[in-house]
Order: sequence, then C-alpha cells, then structure tokens
Amino acid sequence: MELSGSALRELLELSLEQLELFLSELPNQDAWNDDQAVQAARSVMEPIPERGRPAESVLRQFFSTAVPVGLNTTGPGYLAYVPGGGLPQAAVADLLAGITNRFVGIWSAAPAVAQIEATVIRWFCDLIGYAGTAGGFLTSGGSLANLSAIVTARRIRAGEDFRQALIYTSNQAHHSVLKAAVLAGFPVENVRNIATDERWRVRPDALAAQLDRDRKAGGRPLMIVAHAGTTNTGAVDDLDALAELADRERLWLHADAAYGGFFMLTERGRQCLSGLARADSVTLDPHKSLFLPYGTGCLLVRDQQHLRQAHAMDGDYLPTLSDDPEFVDFSQISPELSRDFRALRIWLPIQLHGVAPFRRLLDEKLDLARFAAAELRALDAELVDTLEIVAEPQLSILAFRLRRKGMDREANNRLNRRFLDSINAPRRVYLNSTMLDGRLVIRICVLSFRTHLDRVRECLELIRRAARTLAE
Ligand SMILES: Cc1ncc(COP(=O)(O)O)c(C=O)c1O
Repeated sequence: MELSGSALRELLELSLEQLELFLSELPNQDAWNDDQAVQAARSVMEPIPERGRPAESVLRQFFSTAVPVGLNTTGPGYLAYVPGGGLPQAAVADLLAGITNRFVGIWSAAPAVAQIEATVIRWFCDLIGYAGTAGGFLTSGGSLANLSAIVTARRIRAGEDFRQALIYTSNQAHHSVLKAAVLAGFPVENVRNIATDERWRVRPDALAAQLDRDRKAGGRPLMIVAHAGTTNTGAVDDLDALAELADRERLWLHADAAYGGFFMLTERGRQCLSGLARADSVTLDPHKSLFLPYGTGCLLVRDQQHLRQAHAMDGDYLPTLSDDPEFVDFSQISPELSRDFRALRIWLPIQLHGVAPFRRLLDEKLDLARFAAAELRALDAELVDTLEIVAEPQLSILAFRLRRKGMDREANNRLNRRFLDSINAPRRVYLNSTMLDGRLVIRICVLSFRTHLDRVRECLELIRRAARTLAE
C-alpha cells in the first residue's frame, strides 16, 4: 500500500489536473444543478470492490459524475444559507496533515504540532477579546461547538440533575441550538424561544420577563444562547444587554457567532458585535466567515478551566498527560480523542497570506450586502411599493420579498416562491428562502471569498427581471 515517491507524485498530478480544471471553470459553472441527481447518486452505489482500478477512472467518476450535481457551494454564485467557498490553501494543509498524520489529542504525542492548534485558538481568543485564561478547541462545525458549549454549561452550572434547568434563546435561533440541548439531555420544553424585535434581535425585556415567570414557577434558569449573526437575517443580539442580564441572573451566556464571529476582523464588525467577549463561551465557524472548506468549527470558553472540568478523563493506556499549564491536551478539554489535525487548515493560509486579506474580504462582503440593499430599495422605488426589505444587512445577510396590496399571506408566500424560483432559474446564482413570522422571504448571504461585485450585480439584475415579470 505504500506509494513510491513517483507513484504519489503521479496521483497528485492527476488530481491536480482535475482540480485546476474545476477551479478554472468555477465562474462559468452552474450555481446549482439538479439534472440527473438521482441517477448520479445511484451511479456511485456499489458493493466494495475487491480490486482497484486506474486513478484516471476513479477521478473521472468523482469529478464528472458526483461533483456537478447539487448546489455549487464552491462557486461565486452561491449566496444561500451560509457560504464560505473553501480556500484551496486549506485543502493543501489537509494533505500535509493527513500524510504526516500526527496525533494532536495529547500534547506529548506531537508537542509542536498540537501547539500549532493551541496557537490558532489563542489567535481566535485574541480576536474576540478573550483574556489569557480563555481556551478552546476546534470542532467539525458550529453545531458541534454549540453542543459542547451547552454540555460545558450544564456540567459546570447545573450538576447531575439538570432536568429543571432552562435554556433561553431567540425565536431566530439556529436549529442546532435546540438539537444540542436535546442531545445534551434537556427536554425540548426546557428551551425557551424568546420574542425578537423589528430587527430580529432577541428582546432582553422579554427574556427578563420569561426568566421572572420561570423562577416564580420553580424553574432553574441555566443559560442564555445569544446570536452574533442569525442564519435567517444575520441579526446580532444586543450582546452587552444580554451579558448584563446573564451577570445579574447568574446565567451562563453562550454566543453563537458561527456566522458572524470573524467579522470581528473588521472595524464595522467589531462595532456590531460589541460585547462578544463578555460571553462565557463563543461558537465560531472558520468554514463560514474564514472561507475554509467544510469541517472546521470552534468553541472558545472564557475560562479554559471550565472546559477541563467538563471533559477531563484519564485512561491507563494513554500517553502521559501534560501537567504544565503552558500546554494543553486537547482530549482533556474537548469530547474527542483521535481526530484530524484541523488547525493546519487555518494556520497554513494565515501563515501564507497573513490575516490582512481575510479582513479585506470580509469588509468587501459588508459593502456588497449594503450595496445589494440600496439597489433593492431603488428597485422598490422604481416598481412602486412591490419589494420590501424585511431585514436590512447588519452584517452580510439581507432578506426581502415581493408584496402586493390585499394579497393574503398564503398567496403572497406562493408568489415569493415563484419569485425565488425565477431568480435561481438561469443558475447564475443560488438564493434560498426562510420564514419570518409566517412570511416566506428570500435571503442573500454574501460570504464566499469568491463572490465579488460582478456576481452581486448579476444577482440584482436577475432579481430586477424576475420582479418586473411578476409585476406584469
Ligand atoms: C448561526 C449558526 N449557528 C450554527 C450553525 C451550524 O453550523 P454548522 O453547519 O457548521 O454545524 C450555523 C450554520 O449555518 C449557523 O448559521
């Protein structure tokens, strides 16, 4: 199974040929494609092969059959959900990490390699404003970071019997918050979805009132999960107000900054996310606003000792654990033991380019979202009251819909579904919808490092054309 140097080179060159072609064609590839989706999926159903086949044939099957169907999450036209694009530099890091295959779960097994991960965590702590006592670890994504945050808060603050412990979040929370709570053992009804204001931010007064009601009824409030950028509209909760409330009520404050967190690199982002460092824990998702390929999330905790208290376990067969506070055994502060060396995906691109281009690109996304909102307002003026911006960009997400006087909600939702389908039909962009107060709205999330003004203009032109057609 060991590849000779030349065999490895040959395999890499064949892969590179395919990758170069894939990347050079990205701007012209469809933003989504559901043609032959079922056939494509069925074509890769097969029993385990006893013998191998030539690399060309395997790569062809992957690139020609599997990759082209579905959403083109890598391309510049992907403006749905929360894109990132996937920096190729990070994929090179995966190759290096995979071949060197170091074990980073325990510091002594790879002291300097594990330290690279600890250094990346330190960079992130500095970025959000956490002091030297903070710590954290890389996860596979935001959902798992939210799960570990809730488990940590539960272990530190709620004790063994947490059935009465209550979690407060907004009615705009990402579904991973409820999922995490349920997986962490809380009954569904222990998660309170609090009302939001006209900008889709949780209302601290409504939260305080619910806390009051719950305490009077004998409930045990445990934690608040705030959002530093909701998935629906990019709404950023008033983190300072929630931190004050959490302090007063002695609650753990977790901030889900999976989408918004890395905007802390920008001046406008820092203003918008003021108070983030006051949270007890923060979810970040480098595979969103740091443009990495899927598979890299992060949980930071203001007091690293809390992570240790929640996770530390020893086993007789393990290598020696570090007792030096300068270093960290990641398996002792997180749920995983063996796992991939995720930090290289972050470390390598930042070492190669510095952080400045990330900052610049995130600033560009803020500009593009504002530009899109201004153009939609102009379109509304042109078409006279037909287009409503339901959520102005707080970061790089906005939401809008067509409105018609006298049209009932269901008919209006159907109209907006047709609007969305006709914007997406030419396959130059892919937008998605969500529901806000029972109304179907269309979202634009500008976040991929590959999305620039040209594609946003094209998107706006498609919106204009679809709106005009539906207005006739
Ligand atoms: C606000 C927010 N939280 C959590 C998540 C879940 O992150 P992941 O998909 O990395 O598990 C998302 C994903 O879009 C998100 O937008």
